[in-house]
Amino acid sequence: MANTKPNVRVFENLDLLSQAAAELFIETSAQAVLLRGRSLVTLSGGNTPTELYKLLAQSPYKEQIDWLRIHAFWGDERCVPIENSENNYRQAHDVLLGHVPIPANNIHRVESSLEPAEAAKDYANVLKRFASPALDWPRFDLVLLGMGEDGHTASLFPGSEVNVSTPTLAVTAQYHNRPANRVTLTPLVFNSARRIIFLLSGESKAQTLANVLYGGYHPEQLPAQRIRPTDGEVIWMVDKLAAKQL
Ligand code: 6PG
Repeated sequence: MANTKPNVRVFENLDLLSQAAAELFIETSAQAVLLRGRSLVTLSGGNTPTELYKLLAQSPYKEQIDWLRIHAFWGDERCVPIENSENNYRQAHDVLLGHVPIPANNIHRVESSLEPAEAAKDYANVLKRFASPALDWPRFDLVLLGMGEDGHTASLFPGSEVNVSTPTLAVTAQYHNRPANRVTLTPLVFNSARRIIFLLSGESKAQTLANVLYGGYHPEQLPAQRIRPTDGEVIWMVDKLAAKQL
């Protein structure tokens, strides 16, 4: 993949992985708050981060986070109303955000009831309000991502354009009967982040993970390979089953 050796951390199971990810979330956020007064985080959808989100909403993790200074965004969103349990904001709200003292003004969700193209445009404006100098979007302190069995990440799917020039994009993609209409951040935004953590669990992802990390560079077919921050780090937190082919 990149020229440097990937930073891969393997855990016995998803519980231990999620505990370590919770600790890293705390450490990353504390550092960002100390240096910049706030921590800008993008959450991911999918099943894998659910355990992490639950932990962050509980002792002893919850109390170690300065929730007033956390700003939550989404790496991608499924364009269904927020009442729908397939909505990424809804999932994060139900297990995490609804249980911690994060101010409502710090929750920056995609307007998922809009048409995807409109929602993408709207979200680009949201990002602009937090823009780092010289960019039209923020440098996120922490980006949480998952990866599908097909190598997609966020809603960057195989076969989609690699060199996108906008920070957000409307996407239509079929995967596991999940909602097809989506909005995603693009590599422009992800790759300016300070820290990116991929969370992966399960044997069904093992071969793709090996291809992404150690196979040839094929970003068209393996969108996870498009994630290569220019001045930040990527940490792969994977369970033993997902690591089986490494
Ligand atoms: C989404 C995502 C998506 C997800 C992967 C992995 O909203 O669908 O953000 O990119 O992270 O599909 O999903 P699992 O964790 O359920 O395998």
